[in-house]
Amino acid sequence: NHKGIRKIACIGAGYVGGPTMSVIAQKNPHIQVTVVDLNAGRIDAWNDENFDNLPVYEPGLDAVIAEARGRNLFFSTHVEKAIMEADMIFISVNTPTKTYGKGKGQAADLKFIELCARQIAEVATSPKIIVEKSTIPVRTAATIKSILDHTGKGVPFQVLSNPEFLAEGTAIQDLYKPDRILIGGEDPDAIAALRSIYEAWVPSDRIIATNLWSSELSKLVANAFLAQRVSSINSISELCEVTGANVDEVAQAIGRDSRIGPKFLKASVGFGGSCFQKDLLNLVYIARSYNLNQVADYWEQVIKINDHQKIRFAEKIIQTMYNTVNGKKIAFMGWAFKKDTNDTRESAAIYVADHLLEERAKIEVFDPKVQENQIYNDLNALATRSKEENQKLLKAVSSPYQACEGAHAIALLTEWDEFIEYDWQRIKNNMRKPAFVFDGRKILDRKKLEDLGFIYYAIGE
Ligand code: UDX
Ligand code: UDX
Ligand code: ADP
Repeated sequence: NHKGIRKIACIGAGYVGGPTMSVIAQKNPHIQVTVVDLNAGRIDAWNDENFDNLPVYEPGLDAVIAEARGRNLFFSTHVEKAIMEADMIFISVNTPTKTYGKGKGQAADLKFIELCARQIAEVATSPKIIVEKSTIPVRTAATIKSILDHTGKGVPFQVLSNPEFLAEGTAIQDLYKPDRILIGGEDPDAIAALRSIYEAWVPSDRIIATNLWSSELSKLVANAFLAQRVSSINSISELCEVTGANVDEVAQAIGRDSRIGPKFLKASVGFGGSCFQKDLLNLVYIARSYNLNQVADYWEQVIKINDHQKIRFAEKIIQTMYNTVNGKKIAFMGWAFKKDTNDTRESAAIYVADHLLEERAKIEVFDPKVQENQIYNDLNALATRSKEENQKLLKAVSSPYQACEGAHAIALLTEWDEFIEYDWQRIKNNMRKPAFVFDGRKILDRKKLEDLGFIYYAIGE
């Protein structure tokens, strides 16, 4: 019983919309799910026969697509047709940080959300339930509702908030076994309709209903708390380096306190990803806009520590290599913001590379899933130097051994499992001496590397 929902549309076929709708379709074979996007290239990629070409790399996603695509899961550029036919419409478009005007660099840019709302209003001739999937500032539902009610053809709209908590790299597992599903809204029938879709595979007691604003705010707060844990342990990593404590040991010791818990305490070169920084900035902006300056300052500090951690890592490399990296080759292992994803948004690697390039280092990058043009796009977007210069100073290669060939140092930026299994003897033999390894993820075995003759530095030791 799906409370009358026969067709679902999702606007936005990105990291959130693609995997989420694939699982909803897989688990609800009697509901037709159409994911639409303006970007035709992206839709073609979702429809590609070769699963290696899917626009998003997620372990297990290919099997879900193989089962549902063409049965009740469709990817299309026909946005209006999908809106018209759907009983329920998920909005899953990007909400980047504003790059212009008021709130530049902090507030969320809601122009894509607003465009969606206007388009739905223009096209809809039957009642719709609109579901906000994108992360948005508190009270965005009111904006959507207002646009729908003022520009629509008089058909009834219900707006729900249903934030997505999946993490990249584990998206399918997170979707299969969510800690919770959060539904915010006012209309009991609309909430029941959305609930019934998740109940196809999620136990009822994991589905929480709240008011709209609590739901919207909870998404921002969940990400802010997670980011805060990373910045907290990263701040302690610096203290460990000067006191002789080991941050992994500290993390283990405090994590055994059930009030603190063991997860999300891995010190690193800094958190990245499309969510943490964006949502923190958003929270800070909202707090400031209500004149809650103490609250804003508190959360802003989480970002400051993260920026500090990235630069500190780059500085450690320079300082250890006799205070100059000018003309030296540094091999980057990893560019993605974490393992098991091809996503590089806000990856620490970008900022570390930029800092080292300013010191005239030469960088060769190997990442198992990230393409060369993506790496250049990330660097060029910073506009620290010309595209030509970036092209000259940095290269992406398809083999880790090639990246390390003749290198003075290795900087490990992403915790890909395969890095642990490499032939480190072979790598060492082909490097300049002394051969430095800077482990920004603490995944390598210090004793093994030191026995091979590497000079090994890891965060927080
Ligand atoms: C604390 C630590 O819990 C304990 O492990 C350590 O050994 C000593 O310090 P204590 O100060 O006795 O213990 O009390 P605790 O229960 O931790 O509460 C500390 C304060 O935080 C109290 O004022 C409490 O009311 C407040 N608190 C705690 C909150 O306001 N909200 C909470 O969710 C938890
Ligand atoms: C995050 C949230 O986890 C997810 O619930 C939300 O829906 C979207 O934002 P994601 O950004 O995909 O997911 O990845 P996550 O695993 O949270 O990692 C974020 C960053 O923090 C990564 O760069 C990761 O390497 C870093 N991190 C995470 C650490 O440095 N240490 C940790 O202990 C955990
Ligand atoms: P997320 O990580 O939130 O999923 P992405 O950037 O990966 O974000 O995906 C968002 C997608 O939404 C992009 O593919 C973009 O082309 C699409 N999009 C944005 N605005 C619209 C719109 N008005 N109609 C259809 N698709 C849109």
